[in-house]
Amino acid sequence: MSDKPNLSFKQAAIEAEALREQLDQHNYRYYSLDDPQIDDAEYDQLLRRLENIEALYPALRNPESPTQRVGSAPLSIFESVEHKVPMLSLANAFNDDELRGFERRLQTRLDDNSPITFVCEPKLDGVAVSLLYRDGVLVQGATRGDGFTGENITANVRTIASIPLKLKGQGFPPMLEVRGEIYLPRAGFNAINAEALVKDEKPFVNPRNAAAGSLRQLDSRITATRPLEMCAYSLGQTEGGQLPDSHLATMLQLKEWGFLTNNLMEAVVGIDACVDYYQRLEALRPNLAYDIDGIVYKVDSFHLQQALGFVARAPRWAIARKFPAEEAITRLLDVEFQVGRTGAVTPVARLEPVFVGGVTVSNASLHNEDEIKRLGLRIGDQVVVRRAGDVIPQIARVISGEIDSDGLKNILFPKTCPVCGSPLQRSDEQAVLRCIDGLVCPAQRKEAIKHFASRKALDIDGLGDKIIDQLVDAKLIHSVADLFSLSIEQLVGLERMASKSASNLLAAIAAARHTTLPRFLYALGIREVGETTAKLLANHFGTLEKLQESNVEALLAVPSIGPVVADFVTEFFSNPHHLAIIASLREAGVHWPDIQPADTKPQALPLAGQIWVLTGTLATMSRGEGKEQLEALGAKVTGSVSAKTTCLVAGESAGSKLDKARSLDVQVIDEKEFLALLEKGT
Ligand code: IVH
Repeated sequence: MSDKPNLSFKQAAIEAEALREQLDQHNYRYYSLDDPQIDDAEYDQLLRRLENIEALYPALRNPESPTQRVGSAPLSIFESVEHKVPMLSLANAFNDDELRGFERRLQTRLDDNSPITFVCEPKLDGVAVSLLYRDGVLVQGATRGDGFTGENITANVRTIASIPLKLKGQGFPPMLEVRGEIYLPRAGFNAINAEALVKDEKPFVNPRNAAAGSLRQLDSRITATRPLEMCAYSLGQTEGGQLPDSHLATMLQLKEWGFLTNNLMEAVVGIDACVDYYQRLEALRPNLAYDIDGIVYKVDSFHLQQALGFVARAPRWAIARKFPAEEAITRLLDVEFQVGRTGAVTPVARLEPVFVGGVTVSNASLHNEDEIKRLGLRIGDQVVVRRAGDVIPQIARVISGEIDSDGLKNILFPKTCPVCGSPLQRSDEQAVLRCIDGLVCPAQRKEAIKHFASRKALDIDGLGDKIIDQLVDAKLIHSVADLFSLSIEQLVGLERMASKSASNLLAAIAAARHTTLPRFLYALGIREVGETTAKLLANHFGTLEKLQESNVEALLAVPSIGPVVADFVTEFFSNPHHLAIIASLREAGVHWPDIQPADTKPQALPLAGQIWVLTGTLATMSRGEGKEQLEALGAKVTGSVSAKTTCLVAGESAGSKLDKARSLDVQVIDEKEFLALLEKGT
């Protein structure tokens, strides 16, 4: 077959239409029915033929063509999209008793003790998406965002092969919003990470992060290279048309219209059957092609769903039963000590690589010396490694007993900084060892520069960790201010840096000179000043000068700034070294517009008026840190749950507070949801 088809326009139009139909049908058989009729090579051949015809007669191209899944020119920003029907979250159950409690609550509310029909389905660990179809044509894809407003990612979702660009068959409402999860199957995740390693790029931590990162691309041509899939799980807004009256029937209908739905979905009667489904799925979990973090149970009948309604931001008629964190056994090979941006010296466990929850784990954080003592850990020990969702892998416990203890070594904590050799200081209340040499220590300098360049700070594209390490090691830069005087010759001397990437990097550094005050404050890396606090300070003071001149008293007058943050801020600005760096940055041309001091009354904060409680153990922060972050968002944090509590954050081994929250119908979120909320700042 010659590449260039020899066809009249009319012949080409007919063939193009036929090819599109065939390709759509094969796509549907592959994704939705899991029953392909042709192999990949044959599919590619049909696609190539269609591409050639469209190249010959560009007028025949249309946005719904399967050839249009390659992505398009990059956007400069994602527009906001309002969800007419909010995208909610789910309440959680962590054991069988809580699941039984769920059915009892429903029966009480419905005043009917007969068993309820539930649809059980895997809880996919990906990113929620909303897809809008008008007259059967995909017109918009959006992220969940805060549930009310998301981002328009239409160009990106169009590249995902299991998302129909045009609905199949008929009978769909003129306006149909389909919701579901976009995820990266484990095989696709391993493939993109293998590629990242070859290119010397940072691999993704897990499939969920990789899916989120792939969708966040402004350049949809990058998204198109990622083997993402989308599984439909509910409807959003609809107008006109006739729809089924139950969840299961709706899912079957969506499958007919061309969506991928989960083939492990099942309708069962009564909660015992739900418990049984959980056990069956837990056994299947390690061998699934994708990550799941639990099971979602939904009341099947829409009539009953309506009668049950919603509480806070979750429906009463559905619950997610979370799987416990996945565990695996491996050996502790060594413990190394890393120096972070604030000088904290953290022990990191080097492990014999082990496959846990779809990912190979070879490092785990050990937090601090107390944690090592608590675990009774020695080098050479056999250990249980646990990985829960997004949270960094942890050593859960040491397996003791059977193994002979010869050859095990005690873990010795350094007395001096492993990077710069200066003495370490221990702050008792936090059990943290700190290198006190500040920005003189190369490790802290590197981390400070990485932070300065990071996405939420000055967002210097292309200035990755490895480049910063090289720049500091080669003494080309000593502080963040030196970035702005780098020359192309200096950059070209670095490993894997061609002149094109060097000039791109210089352009990105130059562009970063123009920033905003909140970003600049965040970029300075003042302890405890995260993105939210930086915004609060910027809005309150309006200019850097006013903030620099302020004192503890003035800082405490900023709503939700506590004494700890106030001390860190004043300490930072009284250090002459920091002031010199700020002066050099300004001299190098870093600038931002001043801000009209805004309304930072407590009511203006996103969680103002809300009462939160933290319980159980959080893996990524202490409860004190969680409290501080919540307060920065305007919430009041109390120690006990009551009917007035807005939300309970339940960490590992949460006990009576969790039970009380459930009995009072108070919203409960886990650590992963809590981190997501802090990340968004709402
Ligand atoms: S239903 C109103 N079904 O879990 C109910 N959600 O906390 C809305 N998720 O971000 C969700 N698999 O993206 C539903 N089979 C499934 C799901 C699922 C994963 C995610 C969803 C949402 C989160 C809910």
